[in-house]
Amino acid sequence: MEPIIKAIDVQYCTLQCPDLDIQEQFLIHFGMHTVEKTNEMLLMKGDGPQPFIEKVLKGEKKFISNAFLAASMQDLEKISKTDSFSDIEELSTPGGGFVTKGKDLDGFGVEIVFGIKELEKTAETIPTNEGRTVNRVNQMKRFVKGSYPRILRFAHCGLNAINPLESFKWYQQHLGLLATDKLFMGDPKEPQTPLFGIFSRLDKGMDPADHHTLFFLSAPFLSEGKPVMNHVSFEMFNIDDVFTGHEMLDSKKEEFNYFQEWGIGRHYQGSQLFDYWRNPFGQTHEHQTDGDMFDNTFPTRELNVQKDEIGLGNEPNESQWGPAISNTFGNAENG
Ligand SMILES: [Fe+2]
Repeated sequence: MEPIIKAIDVQYCTLQCPDLDIQEQFLIHFGMHTVEKTNEMLLMKGDGPQPFIEKVLKGEKKFISNAFLAASMQDLEKISKTDSFSDIEELSTPGGGFVTKGKDLDGFGVEIVFGIKELEKTAETIPTNEGRTVNRVNQMKRFVKGSYPRILRFAHCGLNAINPLESFKWYQQHLGLLATDKLFMGDPKEPQTPLFGIFSRLDKGMDPADHHTLFFLSAPFLSEGKPVMNHVSFEMFNIDDVFTGHEMLDSKKEEFNYFQEWGIGRHYQGSQLFDYWRNPFGQTHEHQTDGDMFDNTFPTRELNVQKDEIGLGNEPNESQWGPAISNTFGNAENG
């Protein structure tokens, strides 16, 4: 069945936190900049073109929504006319634009936006000379010692769903998502094998899309059946920004009560270099870069995550290098 529309990107996430000052400080250490702050709401940006990448509302710890980008105003109108979404409203946040709002099967908010004006002034990706590929000649790679990591964009979100397959189908039907990797707790060929999660990507035709934009994980396996955020993820300008971000958060963790969840390592599914940190409320934020990209012809893979993909270990979602997955990853503490 053809999806109603095909989303072409994600724009920002919205979280709820009990204390906006604490979250603002965490996000500054994480690499963001304050755009707007009131008693009720905080908007934070990175160094890329998105005018804000995380919106924080004051209240009980909770994940509120992801905002997806529609390809056109016509698409926004089309999806706003379905039962799942509201009438179009004008956004009053920086960059302007328009939004229609809905909820997925677990009650997580889904915003579809169009017409948000991008920022012109952004930081630059410093070219990499890796292997035999020479991209940087007569230019030095320099990062100021102790500087904050630079975030390119809000990139993806992990959600613990009550039923990952049904949730994925909802997003497939509404926003055109494709399944990149289905993760099974055992042999995928056995019909009884439980599904652990689905990495899903945007369908941008022959244009490359991130390996995953939404990652559905099993709430029954991870968060006592409660649908919660698993993590929100931000793409960095360079690999160095993952490491400078790590240094920054590591140097502040005792004073500010941050907790490193998992990293630094290189994932299997998606291949990103990753580093996960929890804010003082327990909400996991990821720094990542250098992930795989696929066009819409790449077939869905079905994987046994109880086995290392190349048969060297047996920890689910073990990284290619770096520490093993923490036993608290994606638990109900994320809210
Ligand atoms: Fe992630």
